[in-house]
Amino acid sequence: MKILITGANGMVARAALEHCRSLGDEVIALTRADLDIADHDAVFASISDARPDAVLNCAAYTDVDGAETDRDSSYHANADGPENLALACKSVDAAFVTISTDYVFDGLKTGFYTQRDTPNPQGVYARSKREGEIRACFAYSRSIIVRSGWIFGKGGTNFLSVMSGILAEGRSIQAIGDAYGTPTYATDLAKRLRALAEADLPCTFHVTNSGSGTSYLGFAEKVCEIGGFDRGLLRPTSKDDLRRPAPRPANSKMACLLSERLGFAPLQNWEDALKEFLA
Ligand SMILES: NC(=O)c1ccc[n+]([C@@H]2O[C@H](COP(=O)([O-])OP(=O)(O)OC[C@H]3O[C@@H](n4cnc5c(N)ncnc54)[C@H](OP(=O)(O)O)[C@@H]3O)[C@@H](O)[C@H]2O)c1
Repeated sequence: MKILITGANGMVARAALEHCRSLGDEVIALTRADLDIADHDAVFASISDARPDAVLNCAAYTDVDGAETDRDSSYHANADGPENLALACKSVDAAFVTISTDYVFDGLKTGFYTQRDTPNPQGVYARSKREGEIRACFAYSRSIIVRSGWIFGKGGTNFLSVMSGILAEGRSIQAIGDAYGTPTYATDLAKRLRALAEADLPCTFHVTNSGSGTSYLGFAEKVCEIGGFDRGLLRPTSKDDLRRPAPRPANSKMACLLSERLGFAPLQNWEDALKEFLA
C-alpha cells in the first residue's frame, strides 16, 4: 500500500512507519515541519500530491495539561486537523485512519468502556479529540476512528515510556494508584492501524492491549518486576494529590465490541507487550 503518515516524529507514528516499511509499503512520513495538519491548504496539497491509498493520522497536540491554557493549539491539531485530512482523503478516495483517545470518556463507569458508552470528555484536550472524531466522520463517512489509551513505546516521552529509564538510574517516581486504564504498546497499535487501513471498515474501534488493565502504580510495579528495579523507588500517590491542571478519567479502561467480530485477533496482553518493550 501507499501510506501517508502524519506527525511522523511522534511515538505512534514512528512505530507505524517501521511496521509499514517492514511490510514493503511505500511510506510518505510527514513531520509537523513537513505538514501542519491544521493548515487546510497544505493538507490538500500534500495529499493530492502523494495520492496515497491510506492516511494514518498520528499527529496530535498531546500536552493534556498544556491544552488547558492553549485551547487553540489543541483544537487546531486535534479537531481541525482530522477534519482537513478527512476532506482531503475524500478528494483522492483514500482510506483514513485517525487516532483518538480513551479520555473521550468521563471515567465514572466501573468496568470497560465500549462503543456503546456515550463520550463525555472532560478537559480541553479530551474535548478537542472528541471534536476531531465527530468532524472527521462528518467530513468523510469512510473515516476510521481508533481510540487508544495509555500508550507506551520506543521514543515516547510520556510517563509510561520514560519510567524504566528513570528507575534504571535509581531515581524515585510518583505513581498514581487510583486511576485505571488499558496500557497499549505503540508497536501493537501501529500494526492494528495498518490492518484497519487495509480492511477499510469505517467504524470506531477501541484498540488496546489485552488484559484487565491496571493503575499507573500497577504498571510501575510491573516495570520493576520485569526490569529488576527496586520497588522502593515507587512513591504511591493519588490523582487528586498531584493537582494537575487537566481533569483525567479515574477509569478509562476500554474494550472493543467490533474487533474480534470482524476477525481481528486480540492484541497481546499488556504485560507481555511491556516485556517486549523493556527487552
Ligand atoms: N500517548 C498516549 O498515552 C495516548 C493515549 C491515547 C491516545 N493517544 C493519541 O495517540 C496519537 C499519537 O500519540 P503519540 O503518543 O504518538 O503523540 P506524540 O508522541 O506527542 O506525537 C504527536 C506528534 O504530532 C505532532 N503534531 C502536533 N501538532 C501537529 C500539527 N498541527 N500538525 C502536524 N503534526 C503535529 C507532534 O509534533 P511536535 O512534537 O513538533 O509537537 C508530534 O510529533 C494521538 O492522536 C494521541 O492523541 C495517545
